[in-house]
Amino acid sequence: MSGPVFPRTRTSEAPTGGMQTGGTRTREYAEQLIRGRRATRAFRPDPVPEDVLRVVFSLAGAAPSNSNAQPWRVEVVGGARRRRLADALRTAHSERRVTADYPYSENMYAPVHQERRAAFGAGLYGALGIGPDDHPARAAYDVESMGFYGAPHAAFLFVTGDGGPRLAADVGAYLQTLLLAMTGYGVASCPQGMLSFYADTVRDQLGVDEGKLLVGISFGYADENAAANRVATGRAALEATTTFHP
Ligand SMILES: Cc1cc2nc3c(=O)[nH]c(=O)nc-3n(C[C@H](O)[C@H](O)[C@H](O)COP(=O)(O)O)c2cc1C
Repeated sequence: MSGPVFPRTRTSEAPTGGMQTGGTRTREYAEQLIRGRRATRAFRPDPVPEDVLRVVFSLAGAAPSNSNAQPWRVEVVGGARRRRLADALRTAHSERRVTADYPYSENMYAPVHQERRAAFGAGLYGALGIGPDDHPARAAYDVESMGFYGAPHAAFLFVTGDGGPRLAADVGAYLQTLLLAMTGYGVASCPQGMLSFYADTVRDQLGVDEGKLLVGISFGYADENAAANRVATGRAALEATTTFHP
């Protein structure tokens, strides 16, 4: 999706903090960035220029982390390497060679989570014209996701150190910082937990020997006309998730 293009601010080498925040402009930018980001599942083929790549990943590196340990390792893929990786992921997916560093189970979700997931699925598949019981079409869409939904780039976020949940939380902060930085530069994205199911495939293809794979992110410029990008997701009411203790 296209969004406001911000002036180049700082790189990850520059110290964070010290910029004036809280003014009207900052509030408007925050609102635009946070509400302007959405998961994008159809892309134009045009690559993101290298200078923009460098800026958004530098900004992502300004994410907070416990004691500023910055326990992330980020692999950014484009071009021929991206094509080879997509092929390898499709093959691993079709052969069910799942190698998830972080185990996945449907049981991790509470009933209320399941309701939200079902509503999301109905919205997405409804927009795509895929019926609830059309399992072949849903399976074909999963294969599409292995090809990064057609995005020209993908990034893979690894949790280094012991890869445990505390360090994964830091990498979660990196993830959202990256997504917002991309939004600021008009770069659309889709975080994809599904890509992390094939961690060994990603490691082999990219020659990575450190860290646990938390999530992949497909990114590029949105195909604004695609039905998949017309899905609006709601959120739980504030009171459903948040308690203010006076
Ligand atoms: C950690 C994480 C994993 C996700 N995994 C997938 C995925 O595998 N495939 C996908 O299409 N979307 C995935 N998403 C996108 C979510 O479906 C999306 O963020 C959610 O439905 C809210 O919609 P929005 O991002 O458009 O606001 C993931 C998002 C996050 C944060």
